[in-house]
Amino acid sequence: MPPQHPSLRMGFFCGILTALYASNAIATKDSSDDFDVLKYVDPLIGTANGGHVFAGATLPFGMAKAVADTTGENQAGFAYDTKVVTGFSHMHDSGTGGSPSMGNFPIFAQGNCPHDDIKQCKWQQSDRGAVWDRKSPEARPGYFSISLANGVHAEMTTTNRSALYRFTFNETSSQPLSPVVLLDLMDLPRSRRSGSADVDRLTGRFTGSGTFSPSFGIGSYKSYVCVDFKGAELRDTGIWERNQPDISRRTLNLGSDTSSILSAGAFARFHAPKDSNILARVGVSFMSVHQACSNAEQEQPDFDFEGTVSAAEFAWRKKLDVISVDAHGVSPDLQTVFWSGAYRTFISPQDYTGENPLWKSDEPYYDSYYCIWDSFRSIHPLLTLVDPFSQSLMMRSLVDTYRQEGYLPDCRMSLCKGFTQGGSNADVVMADAYLKKVPGIDWGTAYEAVVKDAEVEPKNWDVEGRGGLRSWKSLGYIPLDDYDPDGQGTHTRSISRTVEYAYNDFCIAEMAHGMGHQADYEKYTKRSGNWVHMFKPDQKSSIKGVDTNFTGFLQPRYTNGTWGYQDPILCSPLLDFTGCYLNPGGHETYEGTMPPHDMGALIKTLGGAKSFTSRLSYLHDSGLLYMGDEQAFLPIYQFHYSGRPGLSAKQSHFYIPSQFNTTVNGIAGNDDSGAMGSFVVLSMMGLWPVPGQDVYLITPPYFKEVSIRNALTGKVATIRNINFDPSYESIYIQSAKWNDKPWTKNWITHDFFADGGVLELVLGPKESEWGTHIQDLPPSLSDYH
Ligand SMILES: *[C@@H]1O[C@H](CO)[C@@H](O)[C@H](O)[C@H]1NC(C)=O
Ligand SMILES: *[C@@H]1O[C@H](CO)[C@@H](O)[C@H](O)[C@H]1NC(C)=O
Ligand SMILES: *[C@@H]1O[C@H](CO)[C@@H](O)[C@H](O)[C@H]1NC(C)=O
Ligand SMILES: *[C@@H]1O[C@H](CO)[C@@H](O)[C@H](O)[C@H]1NC(C)=O
Ligand SMILES: *[C@@H]1O[C@H](CO)[C@@H](O)[C@H](O)[C@H]1NC(C)=O
Repeated sequence: MPPQHPSLRMGFFCGILTALYASNAIATKDSSDDFDVLKYVDPLIGTANGGHVFAGATLPFGMAKAVADTTGENQAGFAYDTKVVTGFSHMHDSGTGGSPSMGNFPIFAQGNCPHDDIKQCKWQQSDRGAVWDRKSPEARPGYFSISLANGVHAEMTTTNRSALYRFTFNETSSQPLSPVVLLDLMDLPRSRRSGSADVDRLTGRFTGSGTFSPSFGIGSYKSYVCVDFKGAELRDTGIWERNQPDISRRTLNLGSDTSSILSAGAFARFHAPKDSNILARVGVSFMSVHQACSNAEQEQPDFDFEGTVSAAEFAWRKKLDVISVDAHGVSPDLQTVFWSGAYRTFISPQDYTGENPLWKSDEPYYDSYYCIWDSFRSIHPLLTLVDPFSQSLMMRSLVDTYRQEGYLPDCRMSLCKGFTQGGSNADVVMADAYLKKVPGIDWGTAYEAVVKDAEVEPKNWDVEGRGGLRSWKSLGYIPLDDYDPDGQGTHTRSISRTVEYAYNDFCIAEMAHGMGHQADYEKYTKRSGNWVHMFKPDQKSSIKGVDTNFTGFLQPRYTNGTWGYQDPILCSPLLDFTGCYLNPGGHETYEGTMPPHDMGALIKTLGGAKSFTSRLSYLHDSGLLYMGDEQAFLPIYQFHYSGRPGLSAKQSHFYIPSQFNTTVNGIAGNDDSGAMGSFVVLSMMGLWPVPGQDVYLITPPYFKEVSIRNALTGKVATIRNINFDPSYESIYIQSAKWNDKPWTKNWITHDFFADGGVLELVLGPKESEWGTHIQDLPPSLSDYH
């Protein structure tokens, strides 16, 4: 198991710019003509302090992701809180809490070798690292650049499956330029099992291949690379190993008996380039060297750096232009938080269609679902709103993965199965897409897949499906001493797995209902109430010896029904924060959990609406809740269920911008492929989707007005604040109208987005009666009385 993973901790609580402007990029009312959304995207946000955000150049959902790779905590290649760059590589993942991901086949450039002696250049990874200039990194959509102390200024851009680098070399007075570019058969996690490299003496082309391990999963994958140069005449070529170059060699083979940390590869040396720069075009593929080369040849035949940057910028503007905001009065920083979050939502999953060697299929193949445990909560619900076409392709890819692999993944990266963290959360994503009528999906097969999660235990439930299904079906919970002869997996998280399985079953019940499977509907609805078996009504909790005065918590249970014990605050920031990691030493909870489908019962169980409200407030105010893990998102908005929607709005403003800002530290936890980014976008748009349900909880947008255009239908949904106050004192809804008709419920359905329309919210400085009555509350499995 890796030392860290996609989100690692548990919480505690129970454990008018409408259609007119929409096609014309996002505009502010003041300056619609010169507004450029890309000025408000800062890819460096979240690149320090464990945010693990990918800072480099990529297209939306692109497979090629080019950036400088630093030493240190380099999950996404470049991290701001580092000093040294050791290479530039072409594929990455963004925001993972697992090990560093991919970063295969880095290249590295030097202006010349001391005394023009090839032996005196720097070769292996541990020797060649160059300090980067703190002020130099420039990151924007489709472009990244950085200057190194070795006199190299490196710029990079990408197409879908190739990267283009421009290395500019400083002339040193002592010696003419004779640049050396090397390729290293390395990856970020240093997981290589075998590899080979080849250099073409006539053209300088490098080709390479290798077998590597995924960063948060099992098995291995093969990757291929193809590098071509332009801009300087070739002087000589060769192979290097450790710190030894050899111009007589052309090929290198590293067998499975070579150490994975051995640094070795191919190189090319050039005569002085005309314009002090050399272009390196890098094609990548998971199929073959041939395909790596043809990807590069097809996608950028001309090594056109500026043209590739402009094409990327065009693609990014197009992706983002379905959202428009009236930003009048809103600070540029807050706008940057918003647009950068939207940008990060489009980084992954990555489109590997045509790059999957594991099976032949006409269906799309996406990868880097990293992980669905994280992404079901905000990424996929946001994609359903802003990019339903891509959401459809991703869901189809999940269904096709089920067809081929036998189970839906809960996490998947680099063509490998990733680790499950609790439930089978693809069930939630499927139900969400089903209820919101995402088009193009084979729902029959999708339904078969989610039912299999609920019924058939896999041999290794650490990477798919669910464990403990025998107990789940007979006892209605996962016991602490679970007897599970049907499969193998990590026997921890009995509380959170129970609650998550209950929610997963609820989501299956919703699909069963819609598809007319009445018996299944009843069966899974019943099972979705199982979370209550973990609720111990007389359990007390204290913090540093002081009673919290709340009674009743989720607790572990033995097979015979006897309660076990786990301190209810364990693994919160207040007690053994990291104690619930996903490893055999973990505990009975994982990052926190709740039954989002049965809030009526939960509220009753906790003593009614008032008591629920004070308990939820305590969760936020006491320091128990860590906002850096995704399960913390929904509790910000759950005041809606106790009839206090105003407190949800207040809580949202408490976290944004204090924990979501424009600094390199500016996200609360690792981004998990854009989870933090999509959280902030949905929060600032003012409609929080309860994932897996056709429910959006209404809070006021952070803008005077926000519109979303459905790219499939062209319909525009606008949320408009009346009495908008950019100082955010007036954040309480006094009344609302949906398409000019009074709307008193504190939630709304997906019809609003599907059909288009206007939701108008009248704001005031104090909480009102709006949305507070029982008939205004969101749906719940058990009623609120
Ligand atoms: C190149 O030299 C110029 C002038 O000395 C300097 O300003 C610049 O920082 C150098 N660039 C790199 C990448 O070293
Ligand atoms: C990149 O791939 C996407 C599909 O993921 C496609 O829509 C787009 O046109 C491609 N971009 C370019 C520049 O080829
Ligand atoms: C719980 O109640 C006791 C007795 O009234 C009080 O001393 C204690 O501070 C309360 N705990 C908290 C966390 O407020
Ligand atoms: C239930 O099982 C647990 C664990 O084996 C044991 O400690 C406990 O005493 C049992 N309780 C009863 C009532 O048998
Ligand atoms: C920015 O966000 C980070 C991460 O949540 C936080 O630690 C930091 O205090 C915030 N900075 C400011 C200036 O608000």
